[in-house]
Amino acid sequence: MKDRRSTYNIQNAVLGVPDEIERLRVQATMSWYKELRTLQWYGLQDGMSVLEVGSGPGYITEQLLHSLPNSHITSLEIDQALQNQAKILLRDVPADRIKFVEASVYSTGLPDHSFDFVVARLIFLHLHDPLEAAQELYRVLKPGGKLVIIDIDDGVFGTVNPDIPSLHTILRKIADAVAQKGGNRFIGRSLPRLLRDSGYIDIDIDSIIQHSDVHGIDGFKRQFDMNRFVDLYNYGVINSDEMEQMKQASEAIQHSSEAYGMMTFIMACGTKP
Ligand SMILES: C[S@@+](CC[C@H](N)C(=O)[O-])C[C@H]1O[C@@H](n2cnc3c(N)ncnc32)[C@H](O)[C@@H]1O
Repeated sequence: MKDRRSTYNIQNAVLGVPDEIERLRVQATMSWYKELRTLQWYGLQDGMSVLEVGSGPGYITEQLLHSLPNSHITSLEIDQALQNQAKILLRDVPADRIKFVEASVYSTGLPDHSFDFVVARLIFLHLHDPLEAAQELYRVLKPGGKLVIIDIDDGVFGTVNPDIPSLHTILRKIADAVAQKGGNRFIGRSLPRLLRDSGYIDIDIDSIIQHSDVHGIDGFKRQFDMNRFVDLYNYGVINSDEMEQMKQASEAIQHSSEAYGMMTFIMACGTKP
């Protein structure tokens, strides 16, 4: 039994597995050029040996392979079904460019000091023990190697137009419900300390802004798909007034040309001394 200890299991996705995979696809491609820009600013270079953890259906792996044509990418994922999706997506990639590892980020089974760069995108918010994961990634990095965590912080989630008056109350309630299960939707703000406490140095933090006027509305439509909120309402996490506000926002985002959305990703980097 692999050590998942995480709040993310695609089999429980409220959208259902195919729609959740599509949501991940849109989210992965929406602002990749910006994420890449910051990864490069942090030191990612073509030719480096790169480990991606929690790689899911492989859409970020695909971008990494494309953006780093001389790099070898190791794609680590705990969920066999998701990794099989990635294998199908990347079936034409030469075997000497990619290695798939089915394992947990807590115990990768990978050798010490073997990677120049590790990318962990939208996995740490789900982990029950992020410190243990960051330490394991430290172990597999070469001295001088870097870990970049790309994640969210609902305190700086972003905004939508038309406004949702209770957006921050709703986000707080959702985050509290996730926290009860062991996840952390406010992890962005903790990343510098997490990296420091795991032994990394030269820590830095930055943000990526996604705006529907720049990156298209599709990703926002999927974030505000009402089916994602029905369970929260049914379990009493959000009340009927808040549900109504989300419904109106969802309606507007799906159908009104006046609507826009803006979301923030946090990117934190640490170096193994
Ligand atoms: C929200 S998805 C993000 C997928 C991809 N990184 C992206 O940005 O599109 C989180 C991924 O982390 C994986 N995951 C969850 N717990 C894990 C663990 N303990 N070890 C490795 N992967 C894990 C999930 O199966 C899922 O594929």
